[in-house]
Amino acid sequence: MRTSTTPSARTPFATRLAALAAGAATTLALLAAGTAHAADPPLRDLGAAKGKVIGTAVTGSKLTGTYGDIAGSQFSSLTPGNAMKWGSVEPTQGSFDWTEADQIVAFAQAHNQQVRGHTLVWHNQNPNWLTNGNWTSAQLSTLLQNHISTEVGRYKGKIAAWDVVNEAFDEDGTYRPTLWYNSLGSGYIANAFTWAHAADPNAKLYINDYNVEGVNAKSNALYNLVKSLKQQGVPIDGVGLQAHLVLGQVPSTLQQNIQRFADLGVDVAITELDIRMALPADSAKLTQQAADFKSVVAACAAVTRCVNVTVWGFADSDSWVPGTFPGYGAATPYDDNYSPKPAYHGIAEALGGGSTTPPPTNGACTATYSVTSQWNTGFTGQVKISCAGASLSGWRASWTFGAGQQITQAWNADCTQSGATVTCANAPYNGTVPDGGSVTFGFNGSWNGSNPVPLVTLG
Ligand code: XIL
Repeated sequence: MRTSTTPSARTPFATRLAALAAGAATTLALLAAGTAHAADPPLRDLGAAKGKVIGTAVTGSKLTGTYGDIAGSQFSSLTPGNAMKWGSVEPTQGSFDWTEADQIVAFAQAHNQQVRGHTLVWHNQNPNWLTNGNWTSAQLSTLLQNHISTEVGRYKGKIAAWDVVNEAFDEDGTYRPTLWYNSLGSGYIANAFTWAHAADPNAKLYINDYNVEGVNAKSNALYNLVKSLKQQGVPIDGVGLQAHLVLGQVPSTLQQNIQRFADLGVDVAITELDIRMALPADSAKLTQQAADFKSVVAACAAVTRCVNVTVWGFADSDSWVPGTFPGYGAATPYDDNYSPKPAYHGIAEALGGGSTTPPPTNGACTATYSVTSQWNTGFTGQVKISCAGASLSGWRASWTFGAGQQITQAWNADCTQSGATVTCANAPYNGTVPDGGSVTFGFNGSWNGSNPVPLVTLG
């Protein structure tokens, strides 16, 4: 289908020039954000090529706009940051609120993503009626069984993995004295796994904790528990290492630790990765953070049974760190404005990606796509073809729209769109791009929902 031609057919030349000039004024800023996204394949694709699922914790109400675009396109797994905790789903005994959890599951299904359920048995974020009730052990055990059966049953078949038990240990490797342990003893752990397995036999069931990333007293205790649960035939499938880390302090024994759990016959996931720094951030800290993220992801990539790396919020503006560790922040791969930080590229590099600039696609000529203006249903875009160390004589730029965008008009190129694929060939007067020179063409299009920047191929 031919949607537009060279502009002379329908637009006066002066109008075209004005349109180009108006667009040019806003190009630079948008170009910077656009090329950062377009440079690497999404993290989920890089991860898939290495057999790894790449996830993020999310807040259901934020899953629109840029936040939704990034969550949906970069990640292959979502963990509800709070929405599936007991206090969220049953704030009053017997009265359930699944709204946010359902929303996240639906979003994940629409974006071909896994969901990690988080979390069934924990000492935090429980409803007051539960923590303040003076339950007998038998009552507490029944409440826990019902909770697990209800929640796991509701999402049966929709959750790839559950964090069944969260943070069961203290730092010295003794059991944490929680309402569960104090009333039920350590047997609550095996029971929780057994009940979760009965409710969804296909979900992978994890025990999850923090400060267990390296080999230490706490991870030794976790290791011994997992070994013993396996020996008893308790249905445990995996170990989650939360990985709330501090800048420059990735444990040197991380990979060794992942490997020893894998050798027990369970999967391992990095479930809540963030790497906090003392604020303010500066370029040296951000560079160190990129190296730290890279080394964590590389440690997982090196162990076959390490199956998932999930960041605990992908943007600094969505992170729990500043509220929990005063003076610390900037702990995620995207900044407050959803632009990728060096940490993003550190993750990409560990997964085999990592060039921040698109490689030349035709000798040393490159094409860069940018949205120069955008309104509720329409946008103006442009593609700039630049040559250095090479030249072009006749060119063709093509791309695939990822979100149903449709070109309605183009200038300084002959563009056709077939399905999602757009191909633009030079106009009679701009086929030559000299060494050291550039040619720019523009277009108007329609969009709906999101307007992600595609990667342009030059040929
Ligand atoms: C955090 C959430 O991110 C915050 O929004 C909430 O206020 C507190 O809990 N370990 C866990 C997560 O297992 O559930 C916690 O999430 C962070 C620490």
